[in-house]
Formats: sequence, structure tokens, C-alpha cells
Amino acid sequence: MSEYYQIAVDGPSGSGKSTLAKGVAKKLGILYLDTGAMYRACGLKALKSGIGTKDKDAVEKMMQDIRIDITHEDGSQHVWLDGEDVSSDIRTPEVSMAASDVSAIPCVREAMVDLQRKISEGKNVILDGRDIGSKVFPNAKYKFFLVASAEERARRRLLELQEKGNTEVTYEEVLSDIEKRDLQDSTRAASPLVKVDDAIEIDTTKIDIEETQDLLLSYIKE
Ligand code: DC
Repeated sequence: MSEYYQIAVDGPSGSGKSTLAKGVAKKLGILYLDTGAMYRACGLKALKSGIGTKDKDAVEKMMQDIRIDITHEDGSQHVWLDGEDVSSDIRTPEVSMAASDVSAIPCVREAMVDLQRKISEGKNVILDGRDIGSKVFPNAKYKFFLVASAEERARRRLLELQEKGNTEVTYEEVLSDIEKRDLQDSTRAASPLVKVDDAIEIDTTKIDIEETQDLLLSYIKE
């Protein structure tokens, strides 16, 4: 067995995975890898290239000539697409949907999973995503599956967007996007979002981020 360990945090959009994983990484002094950001970079490239985000052939061609790099500065992850820092450009509702679209295409998943394993090599790491416990690291030492009601997740996502200055988007739009992505991410053929049997489920609907973090850490200490 490897001397390093992985913590897998999976769950649907807005369940609180990234804030939680980031906080736990800081507390434990380990690497945090936001895998959704990688699919978002692929989605952004498809949008920029003007190709259909569900067009398998065009996306496959695009993936032959894509460069995604991940760097970390003061605990914050930066995502680089073809040499450009796109860390904030990938946080729009349009890119969220594009990421969900391209993430259903097997060659995109293969490339991103390879990259995630490569970055995690020789390190203790906490990763958040949809397929970490099922596909990327099926032997992860700890596996968590976060859930929350769609309404609560939409409320959080809206707040996040508003804090970033996006005041045009409405609650109804955010909720509809979340429901659409939930369906698409959990029904795709390639590595769908699924709770594996050995994952611990945490419902974050009624608990805040600090309580969620304490709960997760209590399982790790056990
Ligand atoms: O976690 P996120 O919202 O940033 O992810 C954006 C999209 O990327 C999500 O709708 C599905 C996809 N994704 C995935 O398929 N597998 C992952 N490990 C992470 C994200």
C-alpha cells in the first residue's frame, strides 16, 4: 500500500465540497485538488473555440491540442488553460453547463483522470469531484459523499455569484441549472455521479461549513 493517502469528497454541485475540502486541506497541511475546475477549463475551451459542447467528435479533436496546468498559491488553486490563468473565467453559469456537457465525453474524462492521478502522486491529498471515490482513487483511505437539497444548493450558488458581482442571475435560473446538471452528471454513461458503498454520506442542508468540517475531521481521527 502507498505511504500516502487520499481523501475523496464527491457530491452534486453546490453541496459544499470545495469549501470543505479546501478547509480540511489547510487544517491537515495536505494538497487540495479541485477536479471540477479541470472540466471547467475544458468546457471554457470548447466555448472559446465555438464548437458544440456536446459534439463528441469536435471535443475529441479539441482535446488533442489542450494544455491544462494546475498551480497552487497560498493554498488557492490556479487553473491554466493553454498558458492563460482562467481561474476566475471558469466560474460563470455558462461554463458550469459547458463543463457538465464535455465531462460526459470519455476522452475528456480519461485525460482529466490521468492528470489528477499525476498531480496526486507522492502526496497526501484531498480531492473533490464526482468520481473520485468511484474511479480516480477507488482505494482512497477516506471517502465522503456530500448531499444537500437542490433549493439550499441553489441558494448558496446564488450568493456566491452575487458576491462575485453577478447581480443579473435569478434564484430560479440557478435552481434550474443545478437540477439540469444533477440529472446530466448522474445519468451519463461514463463515470456518473454515484455514492459508492464505502463512502460516508454527509447531508449539509442544515449544517454550516464549520460543522461539516468538524464532522469530516471526526471520521478521520477515528
Ligand atoms: O464541481 P464543479 O461544479 O466545479 O464541476 C463542474 C462540472 O464538471 C460538473 O457539472 C461535472 C463535471 N465534473 C465531473 O464530471 N467529474 C469531476 N470529478 C468533477 C467535475
